[in-house]
Amino acid sequence: MLDIIKETTYKSSSISISQQGNPSVLTYNKEILGQPGPGEVLLRQAAIGLNFVDTYFRSGMFPVKSFPYVPGIEAAGIIEAIGPWVTDFKVGDRVAYHFIPGAYAEMRIVGTHQLVHVPDGVSLEEAAAIMVKAFTARMLVKESYKVKQGDVVLVHAGAGGVGSLVSGWAKAMGATVIATVGSEGKKQIALESGADYVFLAGCEGFAKSVLAITEGNGVDAVYDGVGKDTFSESVGIVKKGGKIVLYGSSSGQPEHIDHAALRAKSIVMLTPVLNAHISDYDSLHLFASDTFAALQSGIFGKINITKYPLSKAAQAHSDMESRKTTGSVIMVP
Ligand SMILES: NC(=O)c1ccc[n+]([C@@H]2O[C@H](COP(=O)([O-])OP(=O)(O)OC[C@H]3O[C@@H](n4cnc5c(N)ncnc54)[C@H](OP(=O)(O)O)[C@@H]3O)[C@@H](O)[C@H]2O)c1
Repeated sequence: MLDIIKETTYKSSSISISQQGNPSVLTYNKEILGQPGPGEVLLRQAAIGLNFVDTYFRSGMFPVKSFPYVPGIEAAGIIEAIGPWVTDFKVGDRVAYHFIPGAYAEMRIVGTHQLVHVPDGVSLEEAAAIMVKAFTARMLVKESYKVKQGDVVLVHAGAGGVGSLVSGWAKAMGATVIATVGSEGKKQIALESGADYVFLAGCEGFAKSVLAITEGNGVDAVYDGVGKDTFSESVGIVKKGGKIVLYGSSSGQPEHIDHAALRAKSIVMLTPVLNAHISDYDSLHLFASDTFAALQSGIFGKINITKYPLSKAAQAHSDMESRKTTGSVIMVP
């Protein structure tokens, strides 16, 4: 009897929504957790990564399966209890995950197949700040358009979460990086993240300046996570045979894609999604080891982390959607 009572005593704070809408639908609750089942662990989360996609699940742009729905896809923490048949993890291990929906919680039960160990020397806050974002950056610079020494690449939202890591990684692989940012205050952040040139998004003469930097040729690749506001201009500033990697749409989906213009310059357009690149144990561990090695080699410099308490998730969403955040945002339970 005592054992049964003990089994039901894990209490966790979490953020959930009972309908989709603006950030005010995010509400703070307490919930009781059971014990981890076979192949599962109970994780005490130290930090939860905020990703732009979280705002899509909250707002209704992406569907959710049922309500109440706990948003969030990545976090890092310490294992507090393990279920039966767990062999690769033990109580006290420092772990992180990159795509298990339901992350906005102080504690949660997760399957171990998507967990990775956080190496010594990497803090749990750093791990939560970079799992999704640096995994995405790795996909972009090593798989979608593989950066080569001497390339010139354009990175939109170069002071943002993914954008700043793409800049740092592309620079380390030998590229000259041109970045755009949404406000003057973000310019320095983009420069510190690895950009060689930074322009205000939508500024006059931008295309002309990019052509001047590339001696009239255009850039080898554009990494575009902004979409609607940036896509059309990219076509004019990519070189013949270059690539436009449209990996996100923080300003909305491009309204019109001019296929004739793409064809005229033999431009390749890609729309990569991280989940398709991390489909099994081997790919997860390749991305994780490569990403943590990149972090520890110093190519990202000091990770620019902004912290919010988990109880202020609504404020964090609102700030991200109104372009006030820079670098990686985490929430701390
Ligand atoms: N394909 C994938 O698998 C994958 C994986 C992860 C993320 N993503 C995508 O990567 C992009 C970046 O994600 P993140 O989490 O790192 O976010 P983030 O870049 O930190 O935040 C989004 C940034 O987009 C820029 N932006 C431009 N127009 C905007 C608008 N109208 N509203 C809001 N933001 C606008 C802002 O930077 P400025 O003010 O500097 O312009 C803003 O800071 C998102 O589009 C996300 O969906 C894709």
